[in-house]
Amino acid sequence: MVRIPEETITRIREASDIVDVVSQYVQLKKSGQNHFAHCPFHDDKTPSFSVNEKKQIFHCFSCGRGGNVFSFLQEIEGVSFPEAVIKSAEIAEVEIDEKLVEQTYQSRPSGDSRYGKLLEINEKTQAFYHHVLMNTQVGEAAYDYLIARGMTKETIEEFKLGFSPPQRNALKLYLDNQEELDQSLFPQTGLFSDRDDGQLLDRFSGRILFPIRDDKGNTVAFSGRIFEDPNRETTGDKPFHSAKYVNSPETELFNKRRVLFNYDKARASIRREGEVYLFEGFMDVISSWQAGIKNGIASMGTSLTNEQVQLMDRVTNKVVIAYDGDQAGLDATKRATEYFLDQTHFDIDIASFPEKLDPDDYIKSRGKEAYNEFLIHGRDTFMSFLMKYFRAGLNLKNESERLAYIEKVLKEMTVVSSPVERELYFNQLASEFDVSQDTLKEQFQQYLMETQKNRTKELKQRQEERQAENKAPAVSRQNRVKRTTTEQAEKMLLNRLFYHDEVWYTLQGLSYEFSFPDEHYQILYLLYESYFKDKGEHNVEAFLDFIKDPEHKKKATEIFWMDLGEELVPGEIEDYIDMLSNRSPLVTKLESKREELKAAERSGDKQKQTSLTIEIINLNRQLKAAKEA
Ligand code: UTP
Ligand code: MN
Repeated sequence: MVRIPEETITRIREASDIVDVVSQYVQLKKSGQNHFAHCPFHDDKTPSFSVNEKKQIFHCFSCGRGGNVFSFLQEIEGVSFPEAVIKSAEIAEVEIDEKLVEQTYQSRPSGDSRYGKLLEINEKTQAFYHHVLMNTQVGEAAYDYLIARGMTKETIEEFKLGFSPPQRNALKLYLDNQEELDQSLFPQTGLFSDRDDGQLLDRFSGRILFPIRDDKGNTVAFSGRIFEDPNRETTGDKPFHSAKYVNSPETELFNKRRVLFNYDKARASIRREGEVYLFEGFMDVISSWQAGIKNGIASMGTSLTNEQVQLMDRVTNKVVIAYDGDQAGLDATKRATEYFLDQTHFDIDIASFPEKLDPDDYIKSRGKEAYNEFLIHGRDTFMSFLMKYFRAGLNLKNESERLAYIEKVLKEMTVVSSPVERELYFNQLASEFDVSQDTLKEQFQQYLMETQKNRTKELKQRQEERQAENKAPAVSRQNRVKRTTTEQAEKMLLNRLFYHDEVWYTLQGLSYEFSFPDEHYQILYLLYESYFKDKGEHNVEAFLDFIKDPEHKKKATEIFWMDLGEELVPGEIEDYIDMLSNRSPLVTKLESKREELKAAERSGDKQKQTSLTIEIINLNRQLKAAKEA
């Protein structure tokens, strides 16, 4: 990724006017201090989107999106941060180094750069393969095969599918005759297999070709699916490379960690629909597209990488995992879901296909309408998916398997934050296994306590580690509960902190380590701390760029947006601190120790009782000191 020097970013930010920039995309109406519009990011009935000229930020009261001028461009153009900065410079007519622009927009490689030349070879190759499939006798059987699988001609054209003749020198012969191409680069394209004698043989010969495009729509690689021509005599020998799919190797154009199949075409519809479908196979993406689902993508036959998740993150917060219904697909679903929930802030749904079908099979056997219906109404939450997953292969008539199953489900339920959703599962379990809800709930409470203790520890540790690496902290899935009054105090305190130096010193001067009860605000506080220590100045807009995680950016914008008046009211800050300290982690810790003590009393563990009593006395002392400070 390109690094634009910080001075340049600052120069561009200062020269940019968010009202100007936003006006290029939506019609703003001025009313009082702010400018209003219908939010361009979702279907907005009333104008909930507004821009604050003075603070140079935007915020949508309905969908919660917000940020500064760069965040706006990133979101609306679906581009990376550096690209948004360059775009902003272009709008504000700030002069910048041409090299920087070119590096940033690799999509506009000049024709004579190495990158551009490699792309040109790929484009020609794609045209060749596509032509063979569509118009020649060699390609006929493969074409018929695709049609027989239910693909229309339009779809084949839309995705520029191709076929490579079985003769291993066909591509080379064709490219040799394209005079404008740089032949010395052929070995670097990944299109040919290396041979000791230096001959270039088509890597994909005899295969059906899927062009792989990057996020800008450039064809950077190919994937070739095996095709056995029913009309050709076969000797019974399998071809040497008999893998079902063969991908281009890594090249200067292609890094498989950074590419998502169909991302470029799906992007607009992902944004519009507010979610992305993640499929396992290219065929699933294409058949879904043909069935009207345009917001589908797939990774390159490997599990998702961070880079790919970042691409998705530019355009949405929600993923629907739609992997194959076989055991491998179920395992992959579980892995992917856990990854999303633990490591990212994405919301997830799961479409888990019945009877080992994959999406493509489903469409073929049950039709487009049924497929669309299933994708919308047949989804699972993570929990309901897990319940299905755990029971696969279990004999629930067997008492110990049944108990183990219930235990697993209850443990997993500790991460479900919605009480309504929990209730649903208690109901299901109770009626299915004829256990009382009370028993289930009691057992559940116990697991909840255990896991919460571990999680708090883990979270703290992880936050410290990430902070040390200066990374945005991960947002975990617990603690999404809203606390209105406390939350309000947290926001107000942060707002004051962002705009008034002295609040910073007040917090730092406390005799105990102050922390925000809600993890999101605590994270913002920690981020601000590292920003402030690093830069030594208050600059709200620059701080927004410092925050990388979009969820945190949203929250920060909400806080910046609050208008509390310029002047601090005497005692105001102390009030917030008092209110928040009452709910400090100390109190929580104290409560849990008291619970433990009760348990120790019940079980008659004298030694434990003594040690817990001492801990409680100490905690009480700390708490008192904190309040007096
Ligand atoms: P599948 O075997 O499910 O392929 O692999 P598919 O998309 O259903 O293909 P059809 O329907 O048989 O034509 C899913 C994905 O895994 C990767 C490919 O990206 C494929 O799209 N894969 C599969 C490989 O990379 N190599 C292989 O040998 C097989
Ligand atoms: Mn398939």
